[in-house]
Amino acid sequence: MCGIIGFCGYLDAKEELIKGLAELEYRGYDSAGIACYTDRGIEVIKSVGKVEGLKNKLPAKLESSCGIGHTRWATHGGVSEVNAHPHRSGNVTLIHNGIIENYHELAKELEGMGKIPVSQTDTEIAAMLLDSLYESNQGNVLETLRGAVERLEGAYAFCIMFADQKDVIYCIRKGSPLVCCSSEEGSIVASDMVALLRYSKEYFVLPEFQVAKVTKNTITVMDLDGTVVSPVMLSVHWDMSAAQKNGFKHYMLKEIHEQPEAIRRTLAPRMKKGNYLLPDFTEDGITDEVFKNTNRVVITACGTAMHAGMAGKILMEKLLRIPVQVEIASEFRYADPILDENTLVILVSQSGETADTLAALRLAREKGAKTLSIVNVKGSSIARESDYVLYTHAGPEIAVASTKAYTAQLTAFYLLAFRFAYVIGKRNEQEISYYMKGLDEVGALMEKVLEQKDKMKELSKRLTPAQDLFFIGRSLDYALACEGSIKLKEITYIHSEAYAAGELKHGTLSLVTGGVPVIALATQSDVFAKMISNVKEVRARGAMVILITKEDNDAVIENTIFDERLMIPAGDDIFAPFTAAIILQLLAYYTSSYRGLDVDQPRNLAKSVTVE
Ligand code: F6R
Repeated sequence: MCGIIGFCGYLDAKEELIKGLAELEYRGYDSAGIACYTDRGIEVIKSVGKVEGLKNKLPAKLESSCGIGHTRWATHGGVSEVNAHPHRSGNVTLIHNGIIENYHELAKELEGMGKIPVSQTDTEIAAMLLDSLYESNQGNVLETLRGAVERLEGAYAFCIMFADQKDVIYCIRKGSPLVCCSSEEGSIVASDMVALLRYSKEYFVLPEFQVAKVTKNTITVMDLDGTVVSPVMLSVHWDMSAAQKNGFKHYMLKEIHEQPEAIRRTLAPRMKKGNYLLPDFTEDGITDEVFKNTNRVVITACGTAMHAGMAGKILMEKLLRIPVQVEIASEFRYADPILDENTLVILVSQSGETADTLAALRLAREKGAKTLSIVNVKGSSIARESDYVLYTHAGPEIAVASTKAYTAQLTAFYLLAFRFAYVIGKRNEQEISYYMKGLDEVGALMEKVLEQKDKMKELSKRLTPAQDLFFIGRSLDYALACEGSIKLKEITYIHSEAYAAGELKHGTLSLVTGGVPVIALATQSDVFAKMISNVKEVRARGAMVILITKEDNDAVIENTIFDERLMIPAGDDIFAPFTAAIILQLLAYYTSSYRGLDVDQPRNLAKSVTVE
């Protein structure tokens, strides 16, 4: 949430900042701004709306080789130019990602000193505090930052320019992410790796409470007492094209198509062929002891990642016969959860930076549970702080609506469940080999569904005028219904709900009237007959039913109970969520397109939710 970038080097800073902001725009897009050191001092330019608007506003003459840029997702203070970053107070100009929780108290103190903010933001208060500390510490940066860290509560990643230190940027963070790299072009810092890719594949994560002093030639990292430290270098395998649209109209459509490959990449390092095909976590450092000593699993995450966890729970309980619980991270962290050393807490996060999931992880560790995270972004906070990490290899996900990260998370859950079941003796080698073979074939099955995308495109025309829509399913189909519903509502703005099909008649059925679209998932044989009864119930109330079943379903289904029937390829029921997910993602995508909406950057949302 909020994209931040700093550049100090041998190129035109304003151009580099604009390029970086365009790449980070998915983190927030209600306003944007840059600040650059020039011969006339620090110049700040801001604008409401997208980065393109800011670009058009830049003066032709803005000669600078060092500056900072920000693209905002509003927290404190509405969307306006005055609330956009960078914020300036006296000697200090800064950008911020996070939330300063005690800003009200600090504002009062500063007011007592005659300092009145011009914006409604917590960030300007931070700038004012830093300026006042800089003055009282006679320009000593480390003293200033030490003082600020003592006083600021909440989460922050700051890039700070001091007016009297031309061409130097100082960075410090707590909670919110910040990555840094050096290249021939200069030194660059950003909220995520996507904006560093044009310069380098080697980078480091700035550790919390350490200071990065960024100049043209180098980035010096030091403790708050001034001791210089060497950061741990990381590298990514993707190149620039992984973060570009590559001919697709939207990132979301591209990412939907990338799913078979993302799954294969996630599987490959864990597929060691021997006599039997068993998941192998040697490279991940996840030992069998982790599973042997576990008598309970708690999965916690937010949004789509939590939906992947819901499917994970069903699969794990089925195979392991031990209790598995799924909790929304923002609830879990305040619920005083009962955990012990035999509980395995699984955290799921594409970004690895979601504030609530990170807090849930810290709580689980505090309470002595073992923690294992399923994360896409290498070196992210959740990955670094977990006892074990199983990386998904989905590559960069740019569209705000998650697609390939979701199916890659499912893949990780399936691998975990299979190994776990094998280790605790609930399934033997032959059985696990059979499942692994099925998982290995999922990519090819997904490709078959993608070949039918025109069907989903055509069908979406019927969903486009809808005001309300329901997704129903049972068991794994219910977990997927939740995901289908969030996908649809976030990018089409159509009100939608997911219901466990059997629960509908306990209240919600009153909302199902003539013509209301109901997307019914019926891919699970054990509950198929019950599911069809529920479909008949909504049909009897006049619903427009889109029924999703498997090709190899040989039950006789009267064609009067649905308006449209879509089929996923044959195969074991447990793999149905992978292929059915593509249908739901494409329906959401095309419906959003027909409604003329911004598919990749839906209103009010942003990627990587680093605030609570
Ligand atoms: C929906 C979506 C969100 C995220 C959620 C968690 O399409 O993308 O619901 O899944 O914000 O984000 P991560 O996975 O980064 O923790």
